[in-house]
Amino acid sequence: MSADTPGRSLGGRFAEATHPVLERINRSVEVDKRLWAQDLRGSAAHARMLAKVGLITADERDALLEGLRAVHEELEQGTFVFLPSDEDIHMAVERRLGERIGEPARKLHTGRSRNDQVLTDVLLWLRDELPGLRGDLVAYVEALVTRAEEGVGTPMPSFTHLQPAQVSSVGQWLCAHAAEVAGHLRRLDHLLERLDACPLGSGASAGGYLPLDRAHTAEALGFARPSLNATQTTGSRIELLDVLGLLTLVGVSLSRLGEELVVFCSPSFGFVALPDRLTTGSSLLPHKRNPDGAELLRSGGKLAAAELAGLASVTAGLVSGYSKDLQGDKALLFAAWDRTRDLLALATVHVDALTWRADRLRAACGPELAALWLADRLVLAGLPFREAHHLVGLAAREGDGDLAEGFRAALAAHATPVPEAQAIAAELAAQTPEGLLAALKTEGSAGPESVRGQIAVLKGIVGR
Ligand code: ARG
Repeated sequence: MSADTPGRSLGGRFAEATHPVLERINRSVEVDKRLWAQDLRGSAAHARMLAKVGLITADERDALLEGLRAVHEELEQGTFVFLPSDEDIHMAVERRLGERIGEPARKLHTGRSRNDQVLTDVLLWLRDELPGLRGDLVAYVEALVTRAEEGVGTPMPSFTHLQPAQVSSVGQWLCAHAAEVAGHLRRLDHLLERLDACPLGSGASAGGYLPLDRAHTAEALGFARPSLNATQTTGSRIELLDVLGLLTLVGVSLSRLGEELVVFCSPSFGFVALPDRLTTGSSLLPHKRNPDGAELLRSGGKLAAAELAGLASVTAGLVSGYSKDLQGDKALLFAAWDRTRDLLALATVHVDALTWRADRLRAACGPELAALWLADRLVLAGLPFREAHHLVGLAAREGDGDLAEGFRAALAAHATPVPEAQAIAAELAAQTPEGLLAALKTEGSAGPESVRGQIAVLKGIVGR
């Protein structure tokens, strides 16, 4: 057999070396070497399958498995030397395997292509790593729920349009974040179920001519089944988009936590304080203590959406089957993945460390936050809701911050008598943030009983 053209691997077809610029830009090993363990695992399963169906001998299989173990050790110890000619992790492993065991290495790639190999590696990696992400989500929910238990009876304003809306509680606010992340946990579990088809053996584009046993490799690698269609499998990155979709949603939630912490710890609000270890200084202003971590949650949480959009747009216009465009998938996935895990850890330490300023929270629950309670109280007394809404709106206008005073004025101006008017006015005058909180009745509300129920559900979800 003649050697490859100098300066080129897979060189039988080519008469000259690859242009250095193409070689450099085509090289993906810096990114995909992260998949080395999965690549070796996939190759071992493939070698066993090849022997099972008689495409290689038992001796060749054993030589391959032994060689793969040796390469594993080098990669694990960090003694594996990547060469400039190693285009990707698949070629690097095959090259090194050849150096270690010689001839049998030349049979390993029988019946497979890098197109099915690379996706097999990524899916194996995801199946290995998703439990770690799940653990981060669980730890974050646990932190939220632990703090929520302390805050069930601590009034704080809820907002719409960042305008004070109703009296809520610290517990309800924390459970709101936890409830959203509990949804992400369900999404992750469903996702894991969806990543269950093994690409290995799909070949380059439309399958191959050898009697492979794809079910055997699928099972050996822990998948539920071989993938259905070789062309779709090798030419699509739908699974990665699915994962990036989850990371995007997690990022959206974390970004909102970050924004709220930035606002809440600003002295103008003063709802929470962050410890020194979660704040940074200013190079010029000596007094500053800035919530950089919360800001990075806010900004970093948005970036997975960019990676999702990037991969979606790269894959959207492609012809069926593999195109090199797909090679960019892993950099996007890993960037989003690593950042999301860091941000989850960052969010968890923030939640653990928050100091709530109960006095400031209570002071922010002004008299107008009784408005809906008052309207609902009038409904219970027999007023149609729209009439109650109008009357309380008038009270807010007349009272200019003093709702009880305004209510008296509004009653006086009201055309028809309001049932229980005097009793309701007296109840309103005696109302407190704690009273408003305790009076909340609906399921899912900030009422203490509701929040305790939410906490119990959330604890069940994270298995506590
Ligand atoms: N490094 C490649 C990737 O990540 C592997 C597949 C290469 N396939 C090919 N036909 N050149 O997509």
